[in-house]
Amino acid sequence: MVTGGCGFIGSHLVDALIAEKNTVTVFDNLSSGTLDSLERCRDSQRLAISRRDLKCPNLRLNKEFEIIYHLAANPEVRVGTTNPEVHFRENVEATYNLLEAARRLKNLETFVFLSTSTVYGEAKILPTPENYGPMLPISTYGASKLASESLVSAYASSYGFKAVIFRLANIIGARSNHGIIHDIMLKLKKNQKELEILGDGTQTKSYLHVADCIAGILIGVDKSKDQVDVFNVGSEDQINVMKIVRIICNNLDLHRVKFLFNKATPDGRGWIGDVKFMRLDISKLKSLGWRPKMSSEEAVLRTVRELVSQGKK
Ligand SMILES: NC(=O)c1ccc[n+]([C@@H]2O[C@H](COP(=O)([O-])OP(=O)(O)OC[C@H]3O[C@@H](n4cnc5c(N)ncnc54)[C@H](O)[C@@H]3O)[C@@H](O)[C@H]2O)c1
Repeated sequence: MVTGGCGFIGSHLVDALIAEKNTVTVFDNLSSGTLDSLERCRDSQRLAISRRDLKCPNLRLNKEFEIIYHLAANPEVRVGTTNPEVHFRENVEATYNLLEAARRLKNLETFVFLSTSTVYGEAKILPTPENYGPMLPISTYGASKLASESLVSAYASSYGFKAVIFRLANIIGARSNHGIIHDIMLKLKKNQKELEILGDGTQTKSYLHVADCIAGILIGVDKSKDQVDVFNVGSEDQINVMKIVRIICNNLDLHRVKFLFNKATPDGRGWIGDVKFMRLDISKLKSLGWRPKMSSEEAVLRTVRELVSQGKK
């Protein structure tokens, strides 16, 4: 089962699982995901799509599942600055509802949870390892994911299934529907003269292409040994906002764009809760045989090309 399977990362995961001949049920309320995102495998006999909302109390699963990949969430960090309740309901409560339903399954072996680098807050150690602490998120999104991680860990230990938690860096690629590249390209489509940049442009983070991300998740699930295991998933390097903006402008042949910086805080963050510098220690997942094929810059470049060709369809 894949919750959020009609979303950006979820649809790539479903493609990969179907390609490996698994039988998959997607569980999605289509709040941000679309059926079109599954067009490559929608006709597969091994795929079922169930339009359901995890916020539904007394959620019940009417089939047995061996693995649940839980991706459904509201992933917009910025939403928390005006409406923190969204992250509590969509992320914490929805995860609790799913875990309550999951613990009643007879054959559940593994619960996979997609978490985020933002659970570390403003880490003093970069690259940040999985055992970094204390974990003090600075956004309600990060807080909601850390709370969900705790629930996943407790349910796995209490009800006898395995849990694998992945803390993702910024994931980019075809079909991405939020985040910096999507945002900048959308703005440039509307106005090619002036571009609003959130923050001072120096924010420097790790960006990973979704193809590398899915490969990492599948290897982590396959090879993890502990009852509750946590893996960072990111690139080995970082890239800053201005470099990303320049790559996008160059690829779109836009050389005279005026940049307008919109700083949410005096120290130049893009929004309240924006972690300005992020890089993850990925040695744990690498020790299982995975490594990212693309650097942050290569991932950005490939994503821009993918989104351009997607826009032409
Ligand atoms: N994209 C990233 O850079 C990134 C980074 C770190 C972590 N993550 C995590 O990875 C997961 C997937 O992210 P994404 O970028 O693909 O997001 P997305 O918004 O594209 O996908 C989320 C999917 O969940 C569905 N959904 C949302 N609420 C639901 C609910 N209550 N019930 C059923 N379905 C619901 C949406 O319709 C959508 O299809 C999320 O948990 C996100 O927090 C993403």
